[in-house]
Amino acid sequence: MGECKKYYLTTPIYYVNDVPHIGHAYTTIIADTIARYSRLKGIDTFFLTGTDEHGQKIEEAAKKRGKSPKEYADEISAKFKELWDEFEISYDKFIRTTDPEHIRGVQKAFLEMYKKGDIYKDYYEGHYCVSCESFVAPSQLVNEELCPDCGKPTRIIKEESYFFRLSKYQDKILDWLKNKKPILPESKANEVIRFVEEGLKDLSITRTSFEWGIKLPKEINDPKHVVYVWLDALFNYLTALGYGSDDESMVNKYWPADLHIVGKDILKFHAVYWPAFLMSIGYPLPKKIAAHGWWTRDGEKMSKSKGNVINPKEVADAYGIENFRYFLLREVPFGADGDFSERALIDRINNDLGNDFGNLLNRIIGMAYKYFDGKVTSKDVEKYYINELSEAREILKDLEQRTLWKMQLHKFLEELWKILSIGNKAIDTYKPWELVKNGELEKAAALIGLIANLLAMVIVNLHPVMPKTTQKAAKALGFEINAESFKNIMDGKLLEDFVIEKIPPLFPKIEKPLMKPVEKKEVDNLITIDEFFKVELKIGEIVEAEDVKKSKKLLRLMVDLGEEKPRQIVAGIKEYYNPQDLVGTQVCVVSNLKPAKLMGMISEGMLLAAKDENGLSLIRPEKRKKVGTPIK
Ligand code: ME8
Ligand code: MG
Repeated sequence: MGECKKYYLTTPIYYVNDVPHIGHAYTTIIADTIARYSRLKGIDTFFLTGTDEHGQKIEEAAKKRGKSPKEYADEISAKFKELWDEFEISYDKFIRTTDPEHIRGVQKAFLEMYKKGDIYKDYYEGHYCVSCESFVAPSQLVNEELCPDCGKPTRIIKEESYFFRLSKYQDKILDWLKNKKPILPESKANEVIRFVEEGLKDLSITRTSFEWGIKLPKEINDPKHVVYVWLDALFNYLTALGYGSDDESMVNKYWPADLHIVGKDILKFHAVYWPAFLMSIGYPLPKKIAAHGWWTRDGEKMSKSKGNVINPKEVADAYGIENFRYFLLREVPFGADGDFSERALIDRINNDLGNDFGNLLNRIIGMAYKYFDGKVTSKDVEKYYINELSEAREILKDLEQRTLWKMQLHKFLEELWKILSIGNKAIDTYKPWELVKNGELEKAAALIGLIANLLAMVIVNLHPVMPKTTQKAAKALGFEINAESFKNIMDGKLLEDFVIEKIPPLFPKIEKPLMKPVEKKEVDNLITIDEFFKVELKIGEIVEAEDVKKSKKLLRLMVDLGEEKPRQIVAGIKEYYNPQDLVGTQVCVVSNLKPAKLMGMISEGMLLAAKDENGLSLIRPEKRKKVGTPIK
């Protein structure tokens, strides 16, 4: 895999409904690391990221802030781009799904699928999760209403829709999943295979109840439809290369993608829908789809309402972006969920980076100047320390195949740290200061040479994770990290003689947490206009009222809402009103409450009332209104 001539890798394109957080940074940093490693190997690499800007979720997020969807998308998309630039993410292209080239490509793909007979028009009636932008089958619902993926309430939609014949591709997808094993880590494949085996239903791929999406190709001429945002989004991986434009040379060069990196939340879209779309337009399928786990903070799920969402910039500002990168990749096995805590981050910096790595470099800088005027030579390393050297070379052998190309980045780092530990152990075992004391200067110099070479092996590999830090270390060791030095060192060439440079410690010890503690934010109690309109309020007239004998608080009312017959509403207002005074008066009623039972009586609604220290007062229309009039 590392031997191929080109390498095309992608992150998901992130929704612009919200600003970047640690999860987005995590995916992007994994991708950046792989891209940098690939380039270091001299492979022609193309790394794509970007933003996903259409759909109902974005339309609603924009509306909530009083902005047009495009205005809002521009603003948030720029935030993602700025952050990646600040983090020096080495993407080759940042795609936006509002780019005209992308829109054209999606329309072309839609038309191809349509002409192939894979698209037909019908109705969709069922549940939809706006947060995941996904259609949820009744059997998947939690408590008959909640989205199985994010736990939020779904909405019932009923609208005309075009469908994609996903069912037609079921066997081919299964075949691909089972034989090509494209999913990493492999343990995540079973879930997807089971999902496909349970049977694929045709997929709704257009929406008509909102506007913010790509229009169907003009050849289909059905202007009230917009393309389903997931179909739109997935095609970014092809449109970014020019699919649908006059120049498809990049498509020819880079497609199929070698690697799509995604969070586990969106694996199904990438491992089931995407390959089916590609089969439909006759394009080869991606080689690998790698799904990573979920980050929590201090053991809790991150959410805006809790105010504990980690802003990656804040972490990077406090601890350094490269230390943060190391932490993210080292802390959890790829595919597993991870927990972010400042304590864990500080421990990684002080122990792994400071003690194991930084100190080793400092120790040889100190010794080289103390005994040899800073001169370091590899001359006698093999003579005295061939065992240590071989052990380290053994670790490097096939390391990338065993770990990095399989996304086992934590393992990759763990293995590099074994090389550092060979170095640290060698100092403790051979005690260079004693060698010098005993006059064994050649052996002492060789020990410093050994350590310098072990460090060189580690830093060229660590370079994609910590680009600047490793370059500083390399400079101290008299070389620069590039494709050539990488190759030489991996081929077992030892460092040329050099004068080591005195540099300040790379990882100063962190004594106490550097970030502002989480302010437990007040729960954001704003609701959207849509949420408000879910509550139906109507004018009602009380036509009967009577005491509920066994209760101190309750009256039983019959309220006319202009419906077939009056509703029974049980209200807790006995202390404030006489039943006979209420008959014939008007009230405001919440008319779409789920019926509830109070003292054995069904209550089908609720009256609006205000209560303060002087008692309770029903809210009434200022002038009489027709019963059943909606309150807006
Ligand atoms: O799903 N831990 O965009 P999105 C780890 N637009 N990773 C996380 C995370 C967390 N807590 N939260 C988010 C979309 N991520 C679609 C994708 S692709 C054609 C369209 C990361 O903004 C993870 O990579 O919701 C996840 O897959 C992605 O952000 C979802 O980003
Ligand atoms: Mg999401």
